[in-house]
Amino acid sequence: MPAPTSSIYALELGPMENFVYVIHDHASGRAAVVDPAWEVPKVIDLARDKDIRITDVLLTHSHHDHVNGIGELLKTYDAQLHLLKVEAQFWGSHLNLPTLHHGGDIIQLGKTAIEVLHTPGHTPGSACYYVDGNVITGDTLFVFGCGRCDLRGGDPEEMYRTLKRLGENLSAETVIHPGHNYAETPISTMEEQLAGNPFMHFDDLRAFVHYRMHEHDRIRHSPYRPERMPDH
Ligand SMILES: [Fe+2]
Repeated sequence: MPAPTSSIYALELGPMENFVYVIHDHASGRAAVVDPAWEVPKVIDLARDKDIRITDVLLTHSHHDHVNGIGELLKTYDAQLHLLKVEAQFWGSHLNLPTLHHGGDIIQLGKTAIEVLHTPGHTPGSACYYVDGNVITGDTLFVFGCGRCDLRGGDPEEMYRTLKRLGENLSAETVIHPGHNYAETPISTMEEQLAGNPFMHFDDLRAFVHYRMHEHDRIRHSPYRPERMPDH
């Protein structure tokens, strides 16, 4: 395998255990911040420590706990904002000239290619970002969990299809970087998720929907651990 062109740094910030990620393209010194929120000075400090220039901001989705640092970050860096068109329409926020994407788009950060995956379920325009064998999953896929589907715009049937697609399309060694630190380890692999994430174990849409909407939050609490197939 060729050497990766980028590094990913994680900051756990705020009262909801959010992960804010910084993707650093080695060749250009450019960086993209994924889901800037909560303690923006810590993001800026990291960029200054590493001597990298934040040129892009990527959103996995529009929930407050993932976006509440955008304004503050853009006061310091003249960065381009990216999100899926579907999510911008769902959010309805008056964003300042964002780049609106469709699933399959590539965001070029210097020499690093970041692929935008449309992964609806938690919100209609939720996105995951694939880069160099890593996937930043927002509130779609957590380590041994998945995002809620009972909030406005959530859809458990879409989540079922999204998780199936991720499991089928991403290789076993793909490293998962979730939007919250809800497990005992901050990152995992797709192989570990296929084996131990109960949401990846369903082959029946109705059973998945029932488990996600009515069962899971009663019987499981973070920190999530690997599990075998839930009983029905
Ligand atoms: Fe969310």
